[in-house]
Amino acid sequence: MLDLGKYTDAKCTKQNMSVKYDFTGKVVLITGSSSGIGAATAVQFAKAGAQVVVTGRRADKLAEVGEQCLKVSPKGIKALEVTADVTKREDMRRLVDQNIKHFGKLDILVNNAGAGNPTRIDDKYFYDKFEKLMAINLNSVVYLTHICVEHLEKTKGNIVNISSIGAMRTVVGFAPYGTAKCALDMFTKCMAAELGPKQIRVNVINPGPVRTEFVTAMGSPPELADKMMDVFNKLMPVGRVGESDDIADHILYLASDHAAFITGSNLVSDGGVLAANAINGDDLVVLITGSSSGMGAATAVQFAQSGASVVVTARRADKLAEVGKQCLKVSPKGIKALEVTADVTKREDMRRLVDQTIKHF
Ligand SMILES: NC(=O)c1ccc[n+]([C@@H]2O[C@H](COP(=O)([O-])OP(=O)(O)OC[C@H]3O[C@@H](n4cnc5c(N)ncnc54)[C@H](OP(=O)(O)O)[C@@H]3O)[C@@H](O)[C@H]2O)c1
Repeated sequence: MLDLGKYTDAKCTKQNMSVKYDFTGKVVLITGSSSGIGAATAVQFAKAGAQVVVTGRRADKLAEVGEQCLKVSPKGIKALEVTADVTKREDMRRLVDQNIKHFGKLDILVNNAGAGNPTRIDDKYFYDKFEKLMAINLNSVVYLTHICVEHLEKTKGNIVNISSIGAMRTVVGFAPYGTAKCALDMFTKCMAAELGPKQIRVNVINPGPVRTEFVTAMGSPPELADKMMDVFNKLMPVGRVGESDDIADHILYLASDHAAFITGSNLVSDGGVLAANAINGDDLVVLITGSSSGMGAATAVQFAQSGASVVVTARRADKLAEVGKQCLKVSPKGIKALEVTADVTKREDMRRLVDQTIKHF
C-alpha cells in the first residue's frame, strides 16, 4: 500500500532564484491560451518582451489574458487575440494568416490546446469521444505544424508541444486522451528529425497534474476539481500538484537559446508522480463522507474508476448501496466499496467508520 505519510511533509516550491529570459523581437503563438498553462505561458512570454498571439474559443477570456500581457510587457506590446477552434482547419488558417499579417513572422509555436473526456471502450459514445479528442489533442497540432513550417523555417524558430504523463502510462477511462498524447510525443520526435536540417527544433513537455480548468472543462463542478487536486497533492512525491507557471517556465526554457541543443526531447514535469508510480489510485484507500448522493457520490465513483478502494458513508443505507453498485461497475479490478452507515455528528459513528475502514482495507 502507498505510504502517504512520506509525501505529506515537504513541498518543493520555488525559492528566490529566477531565470530572466529575453524574447524581445520574437513572435510567439500559443494555442489554448485563454486559460491555464497557455494563459500563464502567454503572460510569461509577454513579460520577457515577446510579441504574443493568444487564441482559444472564449473571446472574453482571451481579452483578460491580453490585458495581463499588456500590463507586463516591458514595451507595452499588445497581444493579438484570435478567437478560433483548433479542430477547424479554416480557423487555424485564419489564425496563422492574422498572425503573419499583424506581426510579419512567427518564431515560436506552442501547441498547448487540449482537453480530456473520460470514457470506456464499451460506452455508447466512445468512438465519438475518441474522434473528438484526437481532433483536439493530435490532429490540430499536426495541421498547425503543417501550415506554420514555412514561417518557422524563415526565422529558424522552434515548436513546443504540450502532451501529458497520460502518454506514458495508462489511466483507466482515458484511453482516447492517452492515445492522442502518445501519438503527439511520437509526432514531436518525427518532426524533430525532419525539421532539424531546417534549423527548427521541436520538443514536448509531459505535465503531471496541474491546477487549471482542465478538470472543470470535462464537466466536473469546481468543488470536485478542487477535491481531486487536494487528493493529488498527497500523491505527489514533491508534496504538491503543479501550477500553470511551473509548465510555462519549462516552455520558455525549451523555446529559448538555452535549449539550442535540445530537440526531439520529452521534458517530464510531474512532481515525481511517474517515478513513484502513484497516479492510478491503485494503492489508494479513499474515505468520502456524504457519499450517498451528489458530489460525494460522484467523487466516490471517480476514485473507484481510477482503481482506488473506496469507503462510502452517510446515513441512508439504501443510497449507499446504489453508489456502492456504481463503484463496483467502474472499478477496473472489481473492488467492492465498503459501505458504512453513519452519522458524522456522532463521535461513536465516526470512530466505528475509521475502525471498519482500517480493518477492511
Ligand atoms: N492540467 C493538467 O493536469 C494537465 C496535465 C497534463 C497535460 N495537460 C495538458 O496541458 C494543456 C493545457 O491544458 P490546461 O491544463 O491548461 O487546461 P485548461 O485550463 O482547460 O486549458 C485548455 C485550453 O485549451 C483550449 N481549447 C480546448 N479545446 C479547444 C478547441 N477545440 N479549440 C481551441 N482551443 C481549445 C481552451 O480554450 P477555450 O476553452 O477558450 O477554447 C483552453 O485555453 C492541454 O494540452 C492538456 O492536455 C494538462
